[in-house]
Amino acid sequence: VERILIGTESEVLVGRGLPAALLDERAGRRQTVVLTQPGAQNVAGRVAAAIEAEGLRCALRVLPDRDDAKTLEVVAGLYEWLADLEVARDDTVVGVGGGSVTDVAGFVAATWLRGVESVLLPTTVLGAVDAAIGGKTGVNLRGKNLVGAFWHPSRVVIDIDVLDALPPELKREGFSEALKAGLIGDPELVDLFDRHGAAVPMDQVVLRAVTVKASVVAGDFREAGRRAILNYGHTIGHAVEMAGGISHGEAVAVGMVAAGAISEQSEGFTGAARQRELIERLGLPTEAPGLDRAGITDLLALDKKRRDGVLRMVLLRSIGEPVVKAVDGRDVEVGLAAVGIG
Ligand SMILES: NC(=O)c1ccc[n+]([C@@H]2O[C@H](COP(=O)([O-])OP(=O)(O)OC[C@H]3O[C@@H](n4cnc5c(N)ncnc54)[C@H](O)[C@@H]3O)[C@@H](O)[C@H]2O)c1
Ligand SMILES: [Zn+2]
Repeated sequence: VERILIGTESEVLVGRGLPAALLDERAGRRQTVVLTQPGAQNVAGRVAAAIEAEGLRCALRVLPDRDDAKTLEVVAGLYEWLADLEVARDDTVVGVGGGSVTDVAGFVAATWLRGVESVLLPTTVLGAVDAAIGGKTGVNLRGKNLVGAFWHPSRVVIDIDVLDALPPELKREGFSEALKAGLIGDPELVDLFDRHGAAVPMDQVVLRAVTVKASVVAGDFREAGRRAILNYGHTIGHAVEMAGGISHGEAVAVGMVAAGAISEQSEGFTGAARQRELIERLGLPTEAPGLDRAGITDLLALDKKRRDGVLRMVLLRSIGEPVVKAVDGRDVEVGLAAVGIG
């Protein structure tokens, strides 16, 4: 089992199978609650059994699937349930599932009794390399993640066997964010994708991508400066996601191609063609043709308005060397043209 520390608050365990002791010792803990979702029920069942084998009481609840779990109604129902169970200060909330489960479990843990311990077991690649790492928790309200809190899980447990068994589309979804981590912070991770394509060894991808996110987050927990580099591919990506009805990982792939083209033009980035080829080999889209250009630029204008009138994007000088830059209409033009929006 490999162990990655995030600051002093969190540790991430990466291995195969569940660790012998899932929870660390904690004086006063009387029970745990496990939250999960339909696709992760099997894993959650094993987690609950492992916790009971440690001699702890454990209640399990299956949340609605995907973002249907990320509502205040679901959270309110969970608070009532925790009250019925008399979950106390030293007890633990365990989240087993994709990012929607770990976001809700983290948020409930952050707010129940003003904060109890959370432990997260991400069961999707996106959850493992992104959502469960970094302490952002929350639910949706009108927009995504409008209500939330920063709350570090004390432990994140990643079972590589679970991720290896995922269907290809859930792997791709997470590989998009993992490739992003490589592009902004780990050239060797990019080389790994180069050598293996979609058959890339899951354990190495997860270890490396988590290490990138952990190091960015540890220096900048509350999103001041450097954490912004995690948004590589996400500016145009978000607009494409909202306009195009494609998944987040796919939209980020398109967004990275666009950001790569802008980087090539204004930062002398020479890796744009290689990046596009890597994305293609993962089975992720490099273009989003047929999208309404005006719709996309409107969404970007909205983004700009929210950020004191300047549209900032993460660009690459080289692989592993990101910069956050203000971009203008002509830059955006270049990016959109590169992904077939025009
Ligand atoms: N907190 C953060 O920093 C952060 C970062 C990125 C994304 N997120 C959030 O994460 C969510 C997306 O996460 P996600 O892509 O993991 O999606 P998800 O939680 O919506 O799960 C996607 C699907 O995978 C299924 N599933 C889960 N584990 C499985 C398994 N082992 N085998 C088969 N199917 C399985 C689920 O049932 C669901 O249908 C979004 O709500 C997003 O806002 C949060
Ligand atoms: Zn993302």
